[in-house]
Amino acid sequence: MKAIQIIGPKSEPTVSLNGSHPLPTPDSSGSELLIRVHSAGLTADELTWPELWSPVHNPTHVPGFEVSGVVAELPPAYTGPLAVRDEVYAMLHLDRGKGQAEYVYARPAEVACKPRSLSSAQAAALPIPALTAWEALFKRAWPSGPSSSSSSSSSPLRVLVTGASGAVGSMVVQLAKNSKVMGKEVQVVALASAAKHGYLRELGADETVDYHHDDNDTDGWERKVGIKSVDAVFDAAGGEVLARAWATVKDDGVVVTVADPPPAWATDKGPGAVPKELEGRPGVRYIYFIVSPDGETLSKIAGLIDEGTVKPLPVVEFPVDKAVEAWDFARQRGRQGKVVVNFVPAA
Ligand SMILES: NC(=O)c1ccc[n+]([C@@H]2O[C@H](COP(=O)([O-])OP(=O)(O)OC[C@H]3O[C@@H](n4cnc5c(N)ncnc54)[C@H](OP(=O)(O)O)[C@@H]3O)[C@@H](O)[C@H]2O)c1
Repeated sequence: MKAIQIIGPKSEPTVSLNGSHPLPTPDSSGSELLIRVHSAGLTADELTWPELWSPVHNPTHVPGFEVSGVVAELPPAYTGPLAVRDEVYAMLHLDRGKGQAEYVYARPAEVACKPRSLSSAQAAALPIPALTAWEALFKRAWPSGPSSSSSSSSSPLRVLVTGASGAVGSMVVQLAKNSKVMGKEVQVVALASAAKHGYLRELGADETVDYHHDDNDTDGWERKVGIKSVDAVFDAAGGEVLARAWATVKDDGVVVTVADPPPAWATDKGPGAVPKELEGRPGVRYIYFIVSPDGETLSKIAGLIDEGTVKPLPVVEFPVDKAVEAWDFARQRGRQGKVVVNFVPAA
């Protein structure tokens, strides 16, 4: 089968296309289903994710953790709702991945029916950004999840989303705007390059701020957002952007980041485990997490997409034979849209 492969070393990864990669084999659980992959989504930074380089889990370094396609084979003891030829989409566990190939095995709990209104390519772009956004909002920052009713007396929550124009950021913007949390509306401040502000307003952002807002000024963008003015920061940009975003959060707020590379406090088990930005602000919660597969949430996302509440991500499609070009494009900052590789040409 055709499979995209990353040739090491990890510090200098090279993307290649293998036209005769062996077909995958199921794991020992006997519970996996086989997906004929139609499209696979690319997250630029996944080439740095340790799971791709694990000699145990992924010795041939086939990337890919999100796919859409059809069920090709069900496991013998399967009693769930899916049937062979059903159109599905999935996020694969980071320990297994290998989705950028013509066939991949997935666990039933990772898979959901594809949104009916989307093409394969649009569906393949969604699982990681949508699940990351959902987990950040409704499992990490506010574990009580979205609430259906609003209390008219309560003032809205105000949140800052960094990297807002990207795949994860634009899903955070939409899910936040279309939900209530603890009975409160959510107001979104989106931090993004100026060229993306119109797009973010269309997605529902209440305010847009440019990273370069104040290049000739002593004030940074964090002053435009407002010092200690937001209840939560959702960071999909990392680095210097995250470091500056701390100033915007209230003393009882929460900072959630998913961006790569993770901040030192996310990985350090020693003295670096506490962010230096927390000094004197013990009430600020801080969270870094790695997204988990969740077919049940993907079903909810499919519903939100099909009813028109959440818009799909813009995608840039490449045929599998242009996989190298696809990866080159995916790694460019400022590109418009998430990159998807099609293993089956669109009908
Ligand atoms: N921990 C997890 O489980 C998890 C899950 C998914 C993604 N991630 C990570 O989260 C980050 C965002 O992912 P994504 O798929 O949303 O990426 P993306 O689509 O490439 O979006 C990233 C956005 O960040 C902005 N940005 C700010 N500073 C940047 C810089 N120095 N270089 C490039 N972009 C910059 C860009 O916005 P402008 O063009 O407006 O400047 C861009 O739209 C990545 O680091 C990704 O690896 C982590």
